[in-house]
Amino acid sequence: MQELSLHILDVARNSIEAGATRVEITVLENEPPGWMQITIRDNGPGMDPADARRAADPFFTTRATRKVGLGLSLFAATCEACGGTLEIDSRPGVGTVVRARLQLNHIDRPPLGNMGAVLQTLFCEADLVEITYRHRTPCGEFSISTEELRQELGEVPVSSPFVLAGLCEIVNKGLAQINCAA
Ligand SMILES: Nc1ncnc2c1ncn2[C@@H]1O[C@H](COP(=O)(O)OP(=O)(O)OP(=O)(O)O)[C@@H](O)[C@H]1O
Ligand SMILES: [Mg+2]
Repeated sequence: MQELSLHILDVARNSIEAGATRVEITVLENEPPGWMQITIRDNGPGMDPADARRAADPFFTTRATRKVGLGLSLFAATCEACGGTLEIDSRPGVGTVVRARLQLNHIDRPPLGNMGAVLQTLFCEADLVEITYRHRTPCGEFSISTEELRQELGEVPVSSPFVLAGLCEIVNKGLAQINCAA
């Protein structure tokens, strides 16, 4: 995939499809120095150890619609191409944590991409699932969550088109402010 945000979308969708009611996405740049870490944590049903081990195998899926499940295997391939790893830590009844590590300045590291558009897509599900996004660089921190938006909006649902329309820009402007390269 050309953008890390699309991998994040896929992993968060796995959480929502599995029935999680809480998904926390964290992106750390240069922590530890030289590395980019992306963590997606959910409180879904989790996987038993055998399934968790096979989750990043392209021929493992619990989808009924097709025989391949590419999301995690593609993300693992991207991490490995950037000198890093993808780890899946899942506990039945507790949830799943997917941890991606990539060398921050690796020539093959995809850009983050349009995180605003990805969060816009994910926040459509705000009636079913609480989503938190946190992103830290050496130049600052940006965070946004469905809970925080709900408090600010009062009666207006987070998933309403007018809120979602503004979300993309809020996120991308917030991220531009902590982008050290900018
Ligand atoms: N957060 C999660 N909670 C529970 N099970 C999960 C979670 N993430 C992945 N899985 C399991 O791992 C399988 C493989 O996931 P993967 O993203 O690689 O493929 P997929 O979602 O099945 O298909 P695709 O991503 O190609 O649409 C899923 O079918 C599901 O059974
Ligand atoms: Mg998937």
